[in-house]
Amino acid sequence: MEKRRPLIAGNWKMYKTNDKAVETAGKLSGLVSDIADVDIMIAPPFTALAPVSEAVKGGPIKVGGQDLFWKEEGAFTGEVSTAMLLSAGCQYVIIGHSERRQYFGESDKTVNKKIRAAIDTGLIPVMCVGESEKERDGKETFSVLDKQVGNGLKDFLLDDLDNLVIAYEPVWAIGTGKTATTEQAQEVHLFLRSFIEKNFGNVLAQSIRILYGGSVKPDNILELMNMPDIDGALVGGASLEAETFAKIVRFQK
Ligand code: PGA
Repeated sequence: MEKRRPLIAGNWKMYKTNDKAVETAGKLSGLVSDIADVDIMIAPPFTALAPVSEAVKGGPIKVGGQDLFWKEEGAFTGEVSTAMLLSAGCQYVIIGHSERRQYFGESDKTVNKKIRAAIDTGLIPVMCVGESEKERDGKETFSVLDKQVGNGLKDFLLDDLDNLVIAYEPVWAIGTGKTATTEQAQEVHLFLRSFIEKNFGNVLAQSIRILYGGSVKPDNILELMNMPDIDGALVGGASLEAETFAKIVRFQK
């Protein structure tokens, strides 16, 4: 069967003021303007979403938020709603990144509410899951993922999940230079796809895109993309520089 359409996503985290963000986005836009067979997304900080959306308009790059709050509006100081993301030009939103789980109290329960809000308003959620080093060493990888995905997708129906993207990001591989081996990543991706099959059926299992994240670089992207169940990448550090990220988008060293 044919593989799913790849998605390469860049998570800029808390990097880049607006001038830098627009400069990188503009440069990247020029470098990938001919690409038609890969979906490309960048997630700048909230403050840069609108100008970055403007800078990539008309090209293949789409823009995503790094988080959202599930309420429509209200007295929630510091939070950003789906309508705000949409009005800033977003089509995607990253949900449940391990840094949010680690430092900002994100839980499977809040992830679940955020995915619901994204889906209900037409944003494509990129749901992040992944085990810590201790959990991997303790052979808990699959039970941790089972819980994260199970609780994150609790009460969803098959019809809700057409656009869902899952990103497998082993916490021990994020920003550390340690990448999971392609075999380790493939094993987990297959596990996640089987989970989807068991809970939502074969059609969604075959169509859902599962990205790998954790020290993805031009050097390792092709090998990862050659794996049958890896459909793209969520890239942190290596997405900050236009030339490097453009190489990853092309699966080139
Ligand atoms: P990294 O980050 O590519 O810098 O390891 C990945 C991520 O956190 O999404």
